[in-house]
Amino acid sequence: MPIINPTALQDDVARQKNAYPKNYILDQKQQLFLQEVIQGLQQKQKTLPCKYFYDEKGSALFEEICQLDEYYITRTELKLLDQIKHELAHKIGQDALIIEPGAGAGLKIQTLLGALKNPHSYVPMDISKDFLFYSASIIQHKFPQIEVLPIQVDFTQPINWLDQKIQPNRVVFFPGSTLGNFEPSLAIQFLNNMRQLVGTKGAIILGIDQLKSEQTLLQAYDDKQGVTARFNKNLLSRINKELYANFKLSQFKHQARFNKQLSRIEMHLVSQKNQQVSIDGQHFNFAKHESIHTENSHKYSDKMLHTIASKAQLKIVQTWQDPQNLIKIYYLQPTE
Ligand code: AVJ
Repeated sequence: MPIINPTALQDDVARQKNAYPKNYILDQKQQLFLQEVIQGLQQKQKTLPCKYFYDEKGSALFEEICQLDEYYITRTELKLLDQIKHELAHKIGQDALIIEPGAGAGLKIQTLLGALKNPHSYVPMDISKDFLFYSASIIQHKFPQIEVLPIQVDFTQPINWLDQKIQPNRVVFFPGSTLGNFEPSLAIQFLNNMRQLVGTKGAIILGIDQLKSEQTLLQAYDDKQGVTARFNKNLLSRINKELYANFKLSQFKHQARFNKQLSRIEMHLVSQKNQQVSIDGQHFNFAKHESIHTENSHKYSDKMLHTIASKAQLKIVQTWQDPQNLIKIYYLQPTE
């Protein structure tokens, strides 16, 4: 079987002319990506995994979202973190190993690292290497006394690569309401993993978007400038580029929905007509108005957060909130 270098054909012209190579080899990561995409599109309610938003383009678009007036989470949390950083540092204590799943651009951690007393090391984890190594090098430069150990991983998978003996004072730093991406049962599983990772003396710092008015939430996920729409659609263009699919981006429309029962914002891509899309020789039919569900952002009340934390054998030791109670920061520790 001939091996064709696929990157040579990774452009729009090739895609439109349907000039993809007949024979191509997907690497291991692409294989997994393909598998998850196909699995999602075979469901009755078609879905795509939101972790794939974050290629280089998607990570940059997310940073742009964080600057939007409508998207209050990042700015509000950064401000709150700055106000409570010394309190947090005091609680964390000396010689801490800070682990950050989904570290991204790494702005928030700098606030915390700057306040900590003799931090031992910082382990940023991210699925996307583009921002991970870049921001890790910046942080290493700003904090030369800390050991920065970036790891490219999918943090939704179990983590067992950190030797328990290395550093006992461990803290997981998980801001930005990223926990909201998980269904409650997966959120519990994730918190359980993190509890095991930090050990009985460790802690988890969680930033969580609070349940609030539907209007405020919908605006945050459907901004006037259409940045969130581009972020959502980038998932399709990524599938086109990396998996040789032929989604027509103009034939899908971004939509944010508030699901009250499940207390979450959902992002969808709605097919504008009856159409068929091909991915790796498989065909998927879309009816007009049929959607692909691309993301969940669960919104928590204190009570709901307490429920999932205790199911993961964690207790809420302390909480902080901004004056408008838009977001909260929780300090969790193992119950025993
Ligand atoms: C990074 C998962 C917290 O759900 O608010 C922003 C991602 N999606 N706008 C969120 C996102 C649409 C964001 N998280």
